[in-house]
Amino acid sequence: MTLDKEFKIGEIDNRIYGSFIEHLGRAVYEGIYEPGHPSADEQGFRTDVIELVKQLQVPLVRYPGGNFVSGYNWEDGVGPVANRPRRLDLAWRTTETNEIGTNEFMDWAKKINAEVNMAVNLGTRGIDAARNLVEYCNHPSGSYWSDLRISHGYKDPHKIKTWCLGNEMDGPWQIGHKTATEYGRLAAETAKSMRWVDPTIELVACGSSNRHMKTFAEWEATVLEHTYDHVDFISLHTYYGNRDNDLGNYLAQSLDMDQFIYSVIATADYIKAKKRSKKTINLSFDEWNVWFHSNDADKQIEPWSIAPPQLEDIYTFEDALLVGSMLISMIKRADRVKIACLAQLVNVIAPIMTEKGGEAWKQPIFYPYMHASVLGRGVALNSIVSSPKYDSKDFTDVPYLDTVSVYNEENDTVTIFAVNRHQTDTLSLQADIRSFEGYKVVEHIVLENDDVKATNQINRSNVVPHSNGDASVDGGQLTAHLPKLSWNVIRLGK
Ligand code: AHR
Repeated sequence: MTLDKEFKIGEIDNRIYGSFIEHLGRAVYEGIYEPGHPSADEQGFRTDVIELVKQLQVPLVRYPGGNFVSGYNWEDGVGPVANRPRRLDLAWRTTETNEIGTNEFMDWAKKINAEVNMAVNLGTRGIDAARNLVEYCNHPSGSYWSDLRISHGYKDPHKIKTWCLGNEMDGPWQIGHKTATEYGRLAAETAKSMRWVDPTIELVACGSSNRHMKTFAEWEATVLEHTYDHVDFISLHTYYGNRDNDLGNYLAQSLDMDQFIYSVIATADYIKAKKRSKKTINLSFDEWNVWFHSNDADKQIEPWSIAPPQLEDIYTFEDALLVGSMLISMIKRADRVKIACLAQLVNVIAPIMTEKGGEAWKQPIFYPYMHASVLGRGVALNSIVSSPKYDSKDFTDVPYLDTVSVYNEENDTVTIFAVNRHQTDTLSLQADIRSFEGYKVVEHIVLENDDVKATNQINRSNVVPHSNGDASVDGGQLTAHLPKLSWNVIRLGK
């Protein structure tokens, strides 16, 4: 591998290390919020969960959905809690108590030092509810909705910067599912009104729910035809899973993500060309993760229950490797992927799990996400890599070495993130890093495990990283052994 200071891909927008909390399963209730829990603060938020989220340094949290938002009346979640209605949530067939709503969530976000990426309902609702929500959240005072917020105890506006125009509107499962033209027109008009209330906001239009949707690419092109001048981002969502228990193929799925990112950039730039526009639309990968372990269990959930254990994937070591590769894929396109949200954050397909009245604990995927978020800030660097390759059921030329580097000029540090996809062999990494004169290895973190199906549970952490990697630098050459099936973080500094 050759790594040079000048091989700049682009400045990383910290928002690519965002996450997501939806009113779904036990994400909100029994996740971030559990009054009566020994660690609950005065508002009922679990401080043990807050501590774990802080370790991840999550800069942005998408809220309140997801599929949930397409049937959500935001007005149900503000004002005195005793007056808030219980509603059927048709997306997840549960009952929503509305105990937590916009203001409480903004309070929680402050406690974890994160911004909120607020989604508006473009399923059952539209322009009016969306512009009112912007006025309620962001307008200082002197209007009906801003004064209502003040009367609810929130004198200062929330100043929410990033907004999603609906969720997965291309999917037939979505409440109020639309064609690309129907959605594109509605999104454009909604965006206009929201911006007329607050011109400083940034807007994300819905792209496809995944790259395998029949309407993929045509959807993006049509939506952007309508919205190009009114939005800043187009969204991408994807979830992977090792359904066939084929590890080589599973670990190669980040190549699908690469292709997805590439195709959306190409489509957005095609519309830019058609419009002779000077503006560039960036990408918001606002849902990504592994999701498949809980699919069968979810079929047993009692309809209309409150905060049932939905989408509670128990992640394995191999999932952590793929999550590492997905992070690498996004950092590699840091020039265009400017927002991303690991879906989700607590209990629901999440790095953090909680036990009612008990412990909060870390899933294996916690670690690559934490390493990237904490150490991956700066400029993404492209490395020239020559790696042995393999073929799998769905992919050809899959490099065993998956890697990207991040250069932080301010701190004089370079962090190399690398996955070894080889199932039996250590990879011997040799990197020419001559442009980083005087840099030494600060730490070589490794996440490895002999059992690819190893999981963590309450009070039993089988999958945890160690810092015993053997990376070293000599005469501008870095050498390191990357164990078979491992996630590596090599930290260099002066
Ligand atoms: O994150 C879980 C769900 O996945 C979201 O609600 C939806 O947007 C997607 O299909």
